[in-house]
Amino acid sequence: MTAPKLALATTPVAQAPVDAIVVGTVQNGSGAALAAGADAVDEAFEGNLAEVLAALGATGKADEVVKVPTLGKLKARLVVAAGLGKPAEDGSITPEQVRRACGAAARALGSSKHVVNTLSTVDLQAAVEGTVLGAYAFSTYKSDAAGAELAKVDLAAPAEGSTKEHRATLKAATAIAEAVTTARDLVNTPPNDLYPASFAERATTLAKEAGLEVEVLDEKALRKAGFGGILGVGGGSTRQPRLVRITYKGAKARKRVALVGKGITFDTGGISIKPAPNMEVMSSDMGGAAAVIAAVVLAAKLKYPLHVTATVPMAENMPSGDAYRPGDVLTMYGGKTVEVLNTDAEGRLILSDAIVRAAEDAPDYLIETSTLTGAQPIALGNRTAGVMGSDEFRDRVAEIARATGEGGWAMPLPEELRADLDSRLADLANVTGHRWGGMLAAGIFLREFVPAGLPWAHIDIAGPSYNVGGPYGYTHKGGTGVPVRTIAAVLADIAENG
Ligand code: BES
Ligand code: MN
Ligand code: ZN
Repeated sequence: MTAPKLALATTPVAQAPVDAIVVGTVQNGSGAALAAGADAVDEAFEGNLAEVLAALGATGKADEVVKVPTLGKLKARLVVAAGLGKPAEDGSITPEQVRRACGAAARALGSSKHVVNTLSTVDLQAAVEGTVLGAYAFSTYKSDAAGAELAKVDLAAPAEGSTKEHRATLKAATAIAEAVTTARDLVNTPPNDLYPASFAERATTLAKEAGLEVEVLDEKALRKAGFGGILGVGGGSTRQPRLVRITYKGAKARKRVALVGKGITFDTGGISIKPAPNMEVMSSDMGGAAAVIAAVVLAAKLKYPLHVTATVPMAENMPSGDAYRPGDVLTMYGGKTVEVLNTDAEGRLILSDAIVRAAEDAPDYLIETSTLTGAQPIALGNRTAGVMGSDEFRDRVAEIARATGEGGWAMPLPEELRADLDSRLADLANVTGHRWGGMLAAGIFLREFVPAGLPWAHIDIAGPSYNVGGPYGYTHKGGTGVPVRTIAAVLADIAENG
């Protein structure tokens, strides 16, 4: 899909030669009131736009989109009124409200090719992100690829700030949104086309286009270096595993940040095979990998003053005569041994190898993200990532996740669960043997491989990275691109505050 071209509007809204004008509405008691930015459109309706919308049943609630024909009152044929929901008590609207309304509007534009968006007067960055993400479509595998596509969006400029500042905001927000669509594209690519070697190639292309250094270890190189976790998990597939490392070295780098993302291109469960219903969703088991690849490329585009390295283990978890078994003991990268009690707890095995490798670069922070446990959406639902790790950094990441609108909540690593990972044979077992605190037990497993004193965060995105429900706001069915914006915002925060 080609993203729409976004520009700052140069003509007054009423004269804009476009197909549609997007305005915002807010919930005001039982009816819809116009949000900021809608004045010129309302004037063309002689101050009656709210009444027209009320007659059409508009309420201003989130995800509501009401279309009004202009019948010559404006150059545009349509006014598209997108609900922001309830404002805060002081009347303010959050960036996420703007992002979602713009996303819902972009999804509902139908045959409109060129539109003006007025919600950018409320929040330019959120309007850009919401519009690009809402307009996203993954049509690679459709033989009759979409006819009408949103081609151009003009954004009304906010009253505050200079044109130069607005241009910079537009550029950065577009880059952020495009990083999210990059991750979505990778997640949405089916597993017969996205497997470790092809995933590594796509990562390499993305990195090279951004001028970054890439290293790809194939199965021979992995064996030579002793990556027992990645090789154990990936051994059951004819499509052998990879470890990809992408490095961005920004000028005047303040800190070094290691990113690690789970890249299971398909998770059957292996010999501990999963039941058939919904197994196709396990093509999204590389959402963490997609996010960290997109994030390191974005860090380069936005020229963050940081060193960022993404370490990405890629494997396909398959049952076969070559597959690892329950009962096997793996020697991980760095030498720790793990008794495999369930081959479906494979993510933590490839991640531990990657975490140990990433830590060799002596980073100041480690951010790891993965579709790690079915227990995550059971605990927190489908839209809130679980954030674990060292206390301070975990809380910082969770707070930033909420500020971006992606959502995240700090979760504990209860000490009593550690003993449940003790193994009869090896240093550690890969599962506890009970169901309690499954998300937390996985976090405790990972912690065993993080060097003492390194601030780290583990973001379990099993639910939020893939939307199995209907579309809402700027989120489509399938890959969501979560947590690209959270990682980008954490990197920006580290660049600014250390
Ligand atoms: N990839 C799955 C986790 C998952 C489940 C992601 C649902 C997205 C949606 C992971 O590899 C897995 O199978 N985890 C097991 C761990 C268990 C065996 C301890 C799980 O959660 O059931
Ligand atoms: Mn699994
Ligand atoms: Zn998995």
